[in-house]
Formats: sequence, C-alpha cells, structure tokens
Amino acid sequence: MNSRGILATLSAGTRAERIAILRTTDSDAVESIRCAAEEVLFANCGKNVFFRGLIEFSNRCRQDCNYCGIRRSNKNVHRYEISSDSILEAARDCARLGYGSLVLQSGERQGEPFLSYVVDTVRRIKEETRSPQLPDGLGITLCVGEQNPDTYQRFWEAGAHRYLLRIETSNPLLFSKIHPPDQTLQTRIACLNSLREIGFQVGTGVMIGLPGQTVEDLADDIEFFHEYDIDMIGMGPYIPHEGTPLGRESCPDGETRLRLSLLTIAVARLALNDVNIAATTALQTLHPFGREKGLQFGANIMMPQLTPLEFRRDYLLYPGKPCLEESASQCYSCLETRIRAIQRTIGYHQWGDSKHAQQRLEKSSFERNGNVPS
Ligand code: 5AD
Repeated sequence: MNSRGILATLSAGTRAERIAILRTTDSDAVESIRCAAEEVLFANCGKNVFFRGLIEFSNRCRQDCNYCGIRRSNKNVHRYEISSDSILEAARDCARLGYGSLVLQSGERQGEPFLSYVVDTVRRIKEETRSPQLPDGLGITLCVGEQNPDTYQRFWEAGAHRYLLRIETSNPLLFSKIHPPDQTLQTRIACLNSLREIGFQVGTGVMIGLPGQTVEDLADDIEFFHEYDIDMIGMGPYIPHEGTPLGRESCPDGETRLRLSLLTIAVARLALNDVNIAATTALQTLHPFGREKGLQFGANIMMPQLTPLEFRRDYLLYPGKPCLEESASQCYSCLETRIRAIQRTIGYHQWGDSKHAQQRLEKSSFERNGNVPS
C-alpha cells in the first residue's frame, strides 16, 4: 500500500485497517505509521519511558513449550534458582538506580516450597525498598505463569500489583501447534480473568513471526487485547531456538519479523491509546537498535537486566539474547544514553502504571465504592 492509502487507515480502528497496516512494506508508508503511533503515544502517555528492572530468578520449568529454550525437556540447560537474599540485593539495586518497578520472572513452577518462596520474597522486597521517593516500595510485576486463583490471591496480598502472562497467540489452532496438548488458550484466558478480578493490572502479549502465523492472526491479537481490557502489552519477534521442536520449522526472515513486530506495536498503540507497551529485549536480538525502534513505534516501557550475571546465560529462552555481560550499572548508563538519543525522557522513581490501568481501577473503585490499591 502507498503512503496515501496508509494515511487513510491510520486509526487502526477496524480489522481491515489493521491488516492493511501490518501488510505494509514500503519504507515511506512504514515511516508514516511510525509517526502516527508516536503521536498517539505522546498525546496519551507523554514522552516518558518507564523502567522495570528484570530479575529472572529461576529457569526451572514444568512446561514444555515447543519454542522455548528453557522448556522442561531441554536437558542442555543448567537449572538454577536464585536465593531470596540475592533477589533482595538485585531489588535494592533496582531502587537505587531509580527504576521504580521490577519484574520477577521465572519458569513456571508450582508446589508449596516454590510458592511460599515467591510470596516471602515479594513481601520482603516491598518492606525493604520503601524510601521517601517510593513510600510503598518498588512496584512489583510477577511473571511466573499459569497458577490457580488462590495462588494469585497470595501473590496479590504479598504486594505484587501487576502480572504478565502472555497468550503467545490468540489463534487457538496456532496456540495448540506451538504448545504440548496439556496447554490451552482457554486456561491462559481463565488465568487473565482471575488476575483481573483479584485486582492486578494485567499484561499479556504474543510472539510475532511464528511459523504459520498470519497478519490476520496479529490483527486478531490486537482485538483480543482490546476485548480483554488488557493494561500492559509485551510483544516481540519470535526467535527460533535450535534446541526446540519449533526451532526446526521455517519462519519469516529476520527483517520481516522485525518489521512486523514494529508494525504490530504501532497498531497496538494506534488502536489502544493508553496501555503500556514494552520495547522487548527480543527486538534487540534482530537489530542493534531494536528496542529504541520499539519505543519509536509506540512503546513506552523498557526492562533493563538485573539478573545477577552468573545466571544470565542460563536463562536463554532464545539464542542471541543481548546484555548477557553488562552489569546493572552498565545497563543503566547504556539505556539512559539510548533513550536520550531518541529525545525521550525517563520516568525515574515511579511505578509507571499504565494510564489505562489507572482509569480502569478508578472507575471500578468508584462503582464498588472500595479502595484503589495505592
Ligand atoms: N522467541 C521469542 N520469544 C520467546 N519466548 C519464549 N521463547 C521464545 C522464543 N523462542 C517468550 C514467550 C514467553 C516469554 C517469557 O518469552 O512469549 O511468554
């Protein structure tokens, strides 16, 4: 489609418009889409980029997803679990660097010892990172997979207030192709619903450029985010991992996956206005400035690495993951330079909740006449 055609579809309000945008290859037209998405971002969320320090605290996983490098049956992975004390140390670094929030991510595990370790760690982080700048401590996002509602409730009561659980794709057939038979899209959706009912700000996302995935699927993914009133979105290119079953199947080339990922971010921004969207690390695997590009196509969240260096190489969901060697303070200065270079500002010492979540929670608190979580 040429630039004029694109300009007619920039609201991304219908499925057909979203598909037309996602099919764009002409570089002038891609630039028009980028500008439109950036404008919607600035109008709704401002120029701030918010940081979530990322701590990948365990790579043990009970699931066997066909695309993931730390899947249960990958025997070439050295499995680890970081002690609560070391997580606390990384969390203090997070607060000291002014990141405001952190993401605690691990492979999916259940069982009481694991759950109580997560709950205790979250509680300790909340208690020990209070400061005049952050009176309620760091904002905590958990990303530990499918759990039952009682577990989610315990995580909430411990002090986590955001939860990320990607659906990976909204197409049930594609979902079943990339997962073993014991995993279903329905279960993921039930988890998202339960998280929202408890009070979490809910994040989800998809991989882009999966074998067999179409632009129609991606347009439907955006509709899914809308329909499920999602607050935060984390989407990135699919990166084949040769130690996985899906890694042996062919997928679009890197350039195509990068362009599609950036366009999908732009469509999400155009269609959903006020959600938080992450410029994911996987973008940087495909291009040295992939994350900056993500920000320029409508993203407003970055996740600097805080996983202690000795464990980073063992959390390889996909090959070519960047930032495996940089210390927390090196990541800090690198990101600051990168963000300033694209004329954006940084929201230091703030949780950086999405405007969408703030409005949703205010509305439901008004309806229930209860309290908004601080
Ligand atoms: N390529 C890109 N992203 C991946 N993830 C897992 N494996 C890959 C891969 N090969 C993403 C999934 C998961 C998140 C934690 O990492 O979307 O939800």
